[in-house]
Formats: sequence, C-alpha cells, structure tokens
Amino acid sequence: MTASPVAYSERLWASGRRYRQITDTETQLLAEHLGPGHGRPALDLGCGDGALTRHLHNHLGYRPTGIDCAPSTLATATGPHTDDHPHCQVMDFATDDLSELPDPAYAVITFRLVFRFVTDKGAFLDQVRQLLVPGGTFWVVTELTTDGLTTIPSRAWASPRPESNSSPRADPP
Ligand SMILES: C[S@@+](CC[C@H](N)C(=O)[O-])C[C@H]1O[C@@H](n2cnc3c(N)ncnc32)[C@H](O)[C@@H]1O
Repeated sequence: MTASPVAYSERLWASGRRYRQITDTETQLLAEHLGPGHGRPALDLGCGDGALTRHLHNHLGYRPTGIDCAPSTLATATGPHTDDHPHCQVMDFATDDLSELPDPAYAVITFRLVFRFVTDKGAFLDQVRQLLVPGGTFWVVTELTTDGLTTIPSRAWASPRPESNSSPRADPP
C-alpha cells in the first residue's frame, strides 16, 4: 500500500469496491454474544458502507456511531436505507482525536475487516480499551491469513499460530 490509508480506501470506495456481506452466521453470533442493545451506545470503527452499523441499530437495538476515514462511504452508510438511520461520520481512528466521538464510552465496539489496516496494533488496542465501558465487548472480524502475523504484538494476538503444514486461508475481504 503506497498511498496514504485514507487515499487508498477512498479510491477503492469511489471506484465501487464493496466487501464481504454480513452472513447469517455472523448475525447469529452477534445476537448470541452482544445481545440486545436497549439503546446503549456502540461504535463501528471502519464502518465502510455501514451494513454492520445499521444491523446494530435496526436489529439489535444499539445506538451506534459508525466512523470511516473514506468520505465516499458516508453516502452509502447514512441512507436512504431507513428514515431512522444510525449516525455515521468521517473520522480516522488512527490520527483523529477520538475524544470528539459523540459518546465518551461504548458498550460494544465493532471492528469488521479493518484489523489489517492498523499499523500500531498495541497503541490501537489501548485506545479501544479506553473507549469501552467496563465489561464492554470488542467485536473483531478479521481475515484468516498467515500474512503479517509477525507484526502483531503478542498481547494483541493471543491465538496460536496456524500449524506449519496447514493450508493458509487467504480469502480476500
Ligand atoms: C475492508 S473495509 C471493511 C468495511 C466494513 N467494516 C465492512 O465490514 O464491510 C475496511 C474499512 O476500514 C476503513 N479504514 C481503514 N483505516 C481506517 C482508519 N484509520 N480510520 C477509519 N477507517 C479506516 C476503510 O476506509 C474501509 O472502509
């Protein structure tokens, strides 16, 4: 990736690039593990077209904010899917001041297909910890691949590394 992350993402979204749709398995797991939102605040980091942000809002009852650094995502993320769509805004979680988010803390922070874009994963996870309410949930959906695992600090990546003789899964997002 030679362009800045914002320029890179913006170019892809503006050219019509779209990512993996939320599956039934994901929606089942979300319902099981996050439970009903009852209007509690949620934060969808790197929300893209806002599909997960809307799911948190429309199906689980959270009051989510979606942020993405690519301005082109906003038109898709904010409507016209429903009159009562969640709040989405352009923001870079790596460089912008996250204290300017609408809520000081979140019951749920979702991070779907974005982890590989984070350069300083340790610093990022510290920020997430500060934004979660005590006992809150950080929901990560990420690609299964061996690429780049060595750059993730051990405290941020607790899962065992894949067996050396197993086939790496490298499905594109
Ligand atoms: C692969 S897309 C996934 C979008 C969405 N989460 C989904 O599941 O469809 C990754 C998204 O992360 C956003 N992104 C990457 N780095 C970011 C950053 N530092 N701040 C905000 N958004 C970022 C990109 O603009 C892009 O929309």
